[in-house]
Amino acid sequence: MTCRTLLTGATGTLGTALRSRLGNAGHDVLAASRSPPSDDGAWVAMNLADGTGIRGAIADVDVVVHAATAATGDSEAVDVRGTERLLEAAADAGVSNVVYVSIVGVDEIPYSYYRHKAAAERAVEASSVPSTIVRATQFHSFVFDLLESVARLPVWPLPTAFRLQPIDVGEAAAAIVEYATSEPAGRVPDVGGPEVRTVGELARTYRDAKGLGRPLVRLPLPGKTASGFRSGDGTCPDRTVGTVTWREWVTARCD
Ligand SMILES: NC(=O)c1ccc[n+]([C@@H]2O[C@H](COP(=O)([O-])OP(=O)(O)OC[C@H]3O[C@@H](n4cnc5c(N)ncnc54)[C@H](OP(=O)(O)O)[C@@H]3O)[C@@H](O)[C@H]2O)c1
Repeated sequence: MTCRTLLTGATGTLGTALRSRLGNAGHDVLAASRSPPSDDGAWVAMNLADGTGIRGAIADVDVVVHAATAATGDSEAVDVRGTERLLEAAADAGVSNVVYVSIVGVDEIPYSYYRHKAAAERAVEASSVPSTIVRATQFHSFVFDLLESVARLPVWPLPTAFRLQPIDVGEAAAAIVEYATSEPAGRVPDVGGPEVRTVGELARTYRDAKGLGRPLVRLPLPGKTASGFRSGDGTCPDRTVGTVTWREWVTARCD
């Protein structure tokens, strides 16, 4: 039987990768976001921050894959309150599984966005809707964008000792799609990239791939968020699901 699946955040980095893979896996996908995707597949306007469109979108679906986020915006309104609204509507509509996408380390690293993701996880767990929570590590594209933001500077100030485990977004999406069934699985094993690397190592690989000769300088960051990233609390070295290394990804990207 075809699974009717609502995908929130469908136009985002992960959402775009999930949408095609859910379709290929036989899901009848309804994409949701505030602005439409560039193609003309099934899409519904939804704003998690004020609740617009949620109930109409969810009325007739079996599974929700919830990948909307406001990482650089009002994550309390979108990720926490928006998730609560979505769960309420999903409970009323009798959804069989809400798959919530989270990030490795959200319960340990007290970065405000992570605190909101952890609050959203708790809302998912407390809801009467059957659910699955899957945490992933940073996507290669996220690390790339971070390094692009310093690339023009003569010297790159970076938190060189932060430890990350970046993953190809397509590989993360493929792992998440496995949980998009009518069988809720609770908190499932983390989805991590193939290697843990420091930001300094990642930056040097990026610098080589770009053919740039800029020196790195360590940006001294105090506080528990920074010490959490330095300790590797955002990594899951025993869960190396992805196979595409940062070097492979960045070399292909810069070719
Ligand atoms: N980026 C990473 O490295 C990473 C790593 C691990 C896990 N994750 C998790 O993966 C998920 C997706 O992240 P991403 O990086 O793909 O996000 P993204 O590229 O920033 O995309 C965010 C999506 O959410 C939608 N959105 C934003 N505000 C909204 C609102 N008020 N109402 C409804 N939709 C809204 C956006 O579309 P509109 O703007 O058109 O509404 C977009 O489709 C998140 O749960 C994130 O925490 C990300």
